[in-house]
Amino acid sequence: MTASKTAWSANSWRKFPAQQQPDYQDLAQLQAVEAQLKSFPPLVFAEEIRSLERHLGNVCRGNGFLLQGGDCAESFQDFTAPKIRDTFKVILQMAIVLTFAGSCPVTKVARMAGQYAKPRSGDFETIDGLSLPSYRGDIINGPDFTADARIPDPNRMITAYHHSAACLNLLRAFAQGGLADLHKVHKWNMSFVESNPHKDKYQELVTKLEEALRFMKVLGITAETHPTIHETELFTSHEALLLPYEEALTRIDTLTGMPYNCSAHMVWIGERTRQLDHAHVEFFRGLNNPLGVKLGPNTKADDAIALIDALNPENKPGRLTFITRMGADKLADHLPQLIRRVQAEGRHVVWSSDPMHGNTVKTDNGFKTRNFDAIVRELEQFFAIHQAEGSYAGGIHLEMTGEDVTECTGGAYAISESDLAQRYKSQCDPRLNADQVIELAFLVSKSLANARQGQTSS
Ligand code: PEP
Ligand code: CO
Repeated sequence: MTASKTAWSANSWRKFPAQQQPDYQDLAQLQAVEAQLKSFPPLVFAEEIRSLERHLGNVCRGNGFLLQGGDCAESFQDFTAPKIRDTFKVILQMAIVLTFAGSCPVTKVARMAGQYAKPRSGDFETIDGLSLPSYRGDIINGPDFTADARIPDPNRMITAYHHSAACLNLLRAFAQGGLADLHKVHKWNMSFVESNPHKDKYQELVTKLEEALRFMKVLGITAETHPTIHETELFTSHEALLLPYEEALTRIDTLTGMPYNCSAHMVWIGERTRQLDHAHVEFFRGLNNPLGVKLGPNTKADDAIALIDALNPENKPGRLTFITRMGADKLADHLPQLIRRVQAEGRHVVWSSDPMHGNTVKTDNGFKTRNFDAIVRELEQFFAIHQAEGSYAGGIHLEMTGEDVTECTGGAYAISESDLAQRYKSQCDPRLNADQVIELAFLVSKSLANARQGQTSS
């Protein structure tokens, strides 16, 4: 059976094989949790989801840029206001740099408030001869390497819902309550940014922004007349991997009568679960949210077109984002053929680059890491390839945190493999820290400015 050929409902995915799902032992308990989640209020509203789709429609037409980023895996334990605030700030700081570079609106989509389920390459993890089920994200089981922690527990879905609600509540307060006021940008400098080698560039940008705001004030454009100066819009997203949870949060919008996954504004399908005849594609195709699909180096042009047929048959700009994650050494060999085919067929997708997941390596001292230069190299190639193919490089997808972690090597502070142990906090993949994010923003600014130039002159 092929997904997309039969009638869709929020649970029609159950007729298809589903990869990366936990093996819950107590099915009665699972059903009780699902029923409870179905009775809970939605986390986001359909009108907000439609607003994001309009933003992404503009990105697709070359009139904006998508910045998506946050943790690889959020954690129940490491759940504090400063952590949420600092990631929010660094997303905003990066967005400001990109807005200036591209002279275009930047749509901010956080990997937050629901990024709790993780696909794994192996079902088991073995340490010192002991094999236990893999950690699959806090919504499923616990990260500790004990038999007990690794048992999938349906009640974790309830905890994930409440954590997502609290995180979203704080993000909304930050976005609308004045923290994002453009007049306060210079106060966003976090203490460790003080010694950042890119501090002067950032300061220069802040000065320009202040001048622009003063000029606008003279013209009568102020926070009172234009709320966008005082507040910002931040959308949420996650990999909608754990289908019972995602189904329970899928609701019919009373205004349009259409189904929306109200666990986040945007949801994406990971590289490991995008099989056409499987459950995730089936579930996603009926949602009215903007959708993402990760595309690794083995993606064939036919697969890309079949995914578009299944997920965006009406060819709506902004509905579908292809997030390529091929690795710095592979992108040039694999991306052009996808772009050519999509263009030849006149399909509308937002092209975004995840320069993280194709560049993961394991160090001799046992850490999963990514090198800053490889990340920059994949991004620069992404822009160059799209420019050469006459398509629009519309977005970046990053694993990042506002915290001062040491998880990715390189960058201005030249984090070495032996430094990784100092502050390696990720429960899953290595993230860029705040300094590395700002540095990256400045490094890709030129490529973005070029991409934008191609856009405005065409
Ligand atoms: C992720 O985004 O954390 C992830 C697992 O990505 P991918 O599906 O691209 O491997
Ligand atoms: Co990851």
